[in-house]
Amino acid sequence: MTDFDPLAYITMIMETFYPIGADPTGGVTRLGYSEVEDEMHAAATAIAEAEGYVIETDPVGNLYFSLAPSDEYYLVASHLDSVKNGGRFDGIIGVASGMLLLKMVKEEGSDLPVKVGIFRCEESTNFMKATLASSLITGKFNESDFTALTARDGRTLKEIFEQRGHSLELNQIQGVKEYLELHIEQGRMLEANNQRIGVVTSIAGNNRLKVHLEGLAEHSGATPMIIRQDALCAAAEIVLAVEKIAKDDPMRTSVGTVGVLEITPGSMNVIPGGVDMAIDLRDGDNARIAHMRTEVEAAIGQICEARSIQADVRLVSSSPAVTLDQNVIRGLVKATEQFKVPFQEMPSGAGHDAMNFADLCPTGMVFIPCAGGISHNPEESADYADAVLGTRIMLKYLAEIA
Ligand code: GLV
Ligand code: MN
Ligand code: MN
Ligand code: MN
Repeated sequence: MTDFDPLAYITMIMETFYPIGADPTGGVTRLGYSEVEDEMHAAATAIAEAEGYVIETDPVGNLYFSLAPSDEYYLVASHLDSVKNGGRFDGIIGVASGMLLLKMVKEEGSDLPVKVGIFRCEESTNFMKATLASSLITGKFNESDFTALTARDGRTLKEIFEQRGHSLELNQIQGVKEYLELHIEQGRMLEANNQRIGVVTSIAGNNRLKVHLEGLAEHSGATPMIIRQDALCAAAEIVLAVEKIAKDDPMRTSVGTVGVLEITPGSMNVIPGGVDMAIDLRDGDNARIAHMRTEVEAAIGQICEARSIQADVRLVSSSPAVTLDQNVIRGLVKATEQFKVPFQEMPSGAGHDAMNFADLCPTGMVFIPCAGGISHNPEESADYADAVLGTRIMLKYLAEIA
């Protein structure tokens, strides 16, 4: 590698993505299977074209770059979509890292078979289903999910796939020898412990519930308090019940969040007649997720009965918690030790495309610190030098096992 500068290269990639989907008040909105996500994929493709890479797409719109066609390859992947008004690092830095790793392989003149993968719709924002496209290609998706999943704009996933020309057949990805993903930690642990690298040991699973509460929208001045069926008051109790149920976990690993609350009709002088809410329950232990779900459903039943509110509760998506491959963890630890930087092994509380590969092939993840642990927020930030370090670690590991 003569005058190749990895830090300048990854900076160039990140800055190419920077303006796409920018929100006027800061942050970015790049929803899965939207035109903005298409723009992100086009920007990545332009860089890959300039490098002369082999560029492939699969029937659900995922994108792959490699130096040469190969039946078996190491897949280094992440995503370019974001949550609503999110940051510029979640997913993006993993793609930039994969592209840097491929560039390093090219500069070295190595024949290491590496493919960069860019998966559509990792975030649950658009469909309430996370890691959507990587689920599709790894056998984690049922035909019925196509009709069950609906985008924020009201179109079903099936309609969107038909309009975009994606296949409704469920295609399994072939030839992946191992899967690696670099990601920002999205928590405060690495920063608090002054570590530069996290080697991920497990990924928490989730259950996502959609709840519709139906009360009675009436005059806010003329309706006495004792006869009201206020759906928002029931929702308020449910929000606090979710918090309590997650907090009561003796292991302190469970988390529960109500991140969506939509009030109908939404007028100051009308009692809220309807509420739609989304509940996200996560833990590294599948039994704990199941326990939380049972408790949350029971709480919703009690709260709504006491207030004469009709509740419709549906599980819209779920992912089991996964343990990452012990050999990959050991290999990444060994590679990290050679760089003589502080690091630790750690679980991931967030979901990642990696979770869909863990049962198909040896799978590992590398975390880098993010400023203040802040993520899914316009303030999200990380050090490009840490991403270069994480990329070097993954490349060293791959060179070791190849
Ligand atoms: C996705 O980033 C998630 O873990 O919610
Ligand atoms: Mn995310
Ligand atoms: Mn992500
Ligand atoms: Mn994620």
